[in-house]
Amino acid sequence: MTADQPISVTCTVNGETQTLEVGAGETLLQTLRRRLWLTGTKEGCLEGECGACTVLIDGAPVASCIQSAAAVDGRDIRTIEGLSDGERLSPLQQAFLDHAAVQCGFCIPGMLMTLTALLEQQASPSREEVETALAGNTCRCTGYQQMVDAAMTAAGRERA
Ligand code: FES
Ligand code: FES
Repeated sequence: MTADQPISVTCTVNGETQTLEVGAGETLLQTLRRRLWLTGTKEGCLEGECGACTVLIDGAPVASCIQSAAAVDGRDIRTIEGLSDGERLSPLQQAFLDHAAVQCGFCIPGMLMTLTALLEQQASPSREEVETALAGNTCRCTGYQQMVDAAMTAAGRERA
């Protein structure tokens, strides 16, 4: 196989099976945005530092900008587009709105995916655990407090 020969990958994206031809050096972020038009996952630093591109692979948050697309064969991927149930927002998404935790919105898909993974692994985290989970996600609008409040509400630990 040559370096530029496409690689066939079959994976699940937001519950749908996808078979894709990806490049050897292609990132999962590129695949999601440019092949599947799932543009909710954002392109930030492209160096694995800011968290804007976070998606879930088999339930774990991953920076899709440094994740090889060829390596997700057989894996289950979830993006921000898969969080709501049609028009019905997930409890975490609703809590973000209720707490006015969204400013420019650029970091929000990554924040929501990171926190979704946390709440799935740990239904009732402490504030410190929420803050620790968000350590790899940068918000240039610096609205961290409202996001932590929203996560605590979604976890049933605090009122909206
Ligand atoms: S764009 Fe992937 S971590 Fe910043
Ligand atoms: S809401 Fe603007 S970067 Fe976070």
